[in-house]
Amino acid sequence: MMTNSIERYNHQPVLLQETLQFLAPRPGETFLDATVGGGGHSLVIAEHIRPHGTLVGLDRDAEALAAAQRTLKQFSSQNHILLLHGDFGHLGQILDTTIGAPTTFDGILFDLGVSSYQLDAARGFSFRRDEPLDMRMDRSKGETAAQLLRRVSETELERILKEYGEEPWARPIARAIHAELKKGRPIQTTGQLAALVECTVPRRAWPRSIHVATRTFQALRIAVNDELKQLQTGLAAAIERLNPGGRIVVISFHSLEDRIVKRLFAYKAGKHVGLDAAPPVVPNPSSRTPVLEILTKKPVRPSDEELRRNPRARSGRLRAARRLPLP
Ligand SMILES: C[S@@+](CC[C@H](N)C(=O)[O-])C[C@H]1O[C@@H](n2cnc3c(N)ncnc32)[C@H](O)[C@@H]1O
Repeated sequence: MMTNSIERYNHQPVLLQETLQFLAPRPGETFLDATVGGGGHSLVIAEHIRPHGTLVGLDRDAEALAAAQRTLKQFSSQNHILLLHGDFGHLGQILDTTIGAPTTFDGILFDLGVSSYQLDAARGFSFRRDEPLDMRMDRSKGETAAQLLRRVSETELERILKEYGEEPWARPIARAIHAELKKGRPIQTTGQLAALVECTVPRRAWPRSIHVATRTFQALRIAVNDELKQLQTGLAAAIERLNPGGRIVVISFHSLEDRIVKRLFAYKAGKHVGLDAAPPVVPNPSSRTPVLEILTKKPVRPSDEELRRNPRARSGRLRAARRLPLP
């Protein structure tokens, strides 16, 4: 069963050429792919760091890791390749406790969000089919989206939909979900949730370019996987693990993620970052010595050619930075 699903692992790496350009991997270097997925980006990194390179691949999804292992096999005899199960919110801890894991890197990649494999694999991320409302990237622990909907209050649910989905209809949707719960009909599947959002938001207010349930699904996925906190913590830890001259690339897929990346890079580059930022992204506000040079003034977007090949890349945006030499 597992083998079959891994064989079906299909995900086209987004912004691959641009990632390579900024990461600039060279023979013998040490890289961390903090979201290794099926190993699409890592494969190309592994090819460039051989011989004697080291690649550490991390993912919170055990199925993704199994697929990455297969993908990276072809370069494993020429490199040291280490695949680790865990979330990048605990990056420092994972690297420190894993015997043999290097602790600093010449390049680090974060390719955020879910893979096409996860979207297509009946794991509750997509409203396009009716399937159990799970949404966990790591299915070995934590609460599913269906359990979260049963646990949180109506007010908390409204906050989640507003904050993580930027959903203008957050209040009526939260109310409708709770009304179902009170009637003894908790939302258990993606189809139920999508239908409920469709019935709650008046047709005239449906967005033009996305499905009316897109924001609700995004908000729940972010909440279930604690994505924004993971990113703040993981990215800050990763920057600390860059060698002088080391490069970091982050590909994000929505504005909440991109804002965190932009602000943390700016802060680490010694730029003024207003105190209005919520949630805070600054782990050590007293340290103002610049440690990063920002390499992308604006986020890099996929080319028209890439979008023709892979429409799922459409919301991808890449930011890159380089660790400054020690003063
Ligand atoms: C867009 S996919 C990466 C695809 C990969 N670059 C490739 O080319 O195959 C994102 C991956 O990041 C993983 N992921 C997301 N958040 C994570 C986290 N906080 N810690 C570890 N892995 C995470 C997901 O499970 C998923 O496999």
